[in-house]
Order: sequence, then C-alpha cells, then structure tokens
Amino acid sequence: MKVAIFDSGVGGLTVLYSAMKQMPYNEYIYYADLDNVPYGNKDKDLVNRLTFRAVEQIYDLGVDAIVLACNTATSISADLLRNKYEIPIIGMEPAVKPAVMNSSGKRVLVMATELTLKESKLKNLIDRLEATDKVDLLPMSEMVDFAEEMVFESERVTDLLDRKFSHMDVSVYKTVVLGCTHFIYFKQKIEKYFNYSMNVIDGNQGTVNHLEKILQGIGKGKYLRDGKKSVQYYVSGRKAKSSEFQGYMDYLEMLDI
Ligand code: DGL
Repeated sequence: MKVAIFDSGVGGLTVLYSAMKQMPYNEYIYYADLDNVPYGNKDKDLVNRLTFRAVEQIYDLGVDAIVLACNTATSISADLLRNKYEIPIIGMEPAVKPAVMNSSGKRVLVMATELTLKESKLKNLIDRLEATDKVDLLPMSEMVDFAEEMVFESERVTDLLDRKFSHMDVSVYKTVVLGCTHFIYFKQKIEKYFNYSMNVIDGNQGTVNHLEKILQGIGKGKYLRDGKKSVQYYVSGRKAKSSEFQGYMDYLEMLDI
C-alpha cells in the first residue's frame, strides 16, 4: 500500500518512524510543508488553505491513505478533507481520553500548539469526557521551532521547561499529553525533567494502529514483498532527498520511540 504522511514540518517523522517499524512492507510518502512551518501560530483559514493545498498534491501522487501527522492540521481540516476525498484521511488527536482515565483523580496537562488548544475539536473532546475541571492546557510552540532546528539536547530546552513550569504547581498533575507531533522528540527529556513522576503520553501509536486497521480493511494486495524500507520525501510540493531528513530519523532511532 502507498501511504502518505503529512505534517507542517519534521514532527510527522515521528509517526513515519513508528509506521515504518510496524508496517515495513508499505511504500511511504513523507510530505513536510517546510516553506510554511510552523502552522500552530498561524491564522486558522491560512492553515486550512495550506493543508488543502498539500493534500491535493499528495492525492495526485496516487496514495491509498493519508495520515495528517499534525494535530493542528487535523483540528482545522480533517473533517473538511474527508468530505472532499474518498480515500481514508487519518487524523491525530491529543490522547486526552487515556490520560483522564489513568490519572487516578489527579490533573492532566495537555501541551500543544496555540491553534490546537484554541480549536473546538479539543474543547469538544474534553467536554465529551466530562473532564473540563480536570484538564489544563499549555501552549508550547517554542518546541516546534526547537525540533525544526534540531535543538534536542541543548540547555535551551531545559530553560524553556523551567520558564514554562516554574510558576506552576506541577505536583497536581499525573499525566502530560503531548498534543503535537513535534514534541515527541522531547518525550524522554520531559519524562526526565519530572523525575519520571508523570506519565508522558502521545497519540502516535494509536494513530499507527488505526492506520494499520484501515489499510487491512481496504487491502488491495499491493504490499511490497521484500520488506525493504521505501520512502519518498516531499517538501512543499517538491521532491526532496532522504538525506535532508536522515538526521531526524537517526535521532528517532537512537531514542527508540
Ligand atoms: N506538528 C504539528 C502538530 O502536531 C504542528 C506544528 C506546527 O507547525 O506548529 O500540531
């Protein structure tokens, strides 16, 4: 099967990495809209237009399914895209449900981009779970920039966490939800920052499992037989070399997410 994974930038590589691990027999397209990253602090209509343009270009490549490996684009455009395209459009959703269920009465902190946190999709999810009084929201757009710049191990990341958390009573939280795929690069760093006292969870594995089920459902016997990893990269509509993204894939391999 030919699967496209889309993100504003390098965040969706974390989904690609997991999908390739779980389904190495698929053919993948990774599309990063690097000309326009970040999406999370842009105007909603602009993000919708950019996402539609990217998905149109991806669709023309003849894919069997598209993963919006971007919580921000999912919040704004997933439902609208599903009305337009007949192929499966798989979105991401901050893992608030498992967080609320497994926090033994303590609070949940959802970290995401400003736009994801503002959107009704997340608000509706929290409402449905009757968890408005148990969930706090924290914008962390700076981490998107760090990931794009490959600032993973630097003191700048710790300084950011200090800045964000110094004025908060973090002892009230049991779970941190990473509601942006760019944040996955920092998952272990965040766990360590809180001395492993908090669950730090994300929606990547759930999305990959969902993708696998969908592909099984529409299986057309188009599996690659040799199990070789195959990815074609695109940057804002142009073909790109895998070497442009190799550093990120190597880092993810090292993290072993
Ligand atoms: N990786 C994206 C997300 O999951 C968006 C980051 C951005 O472009 O601001 O929300």
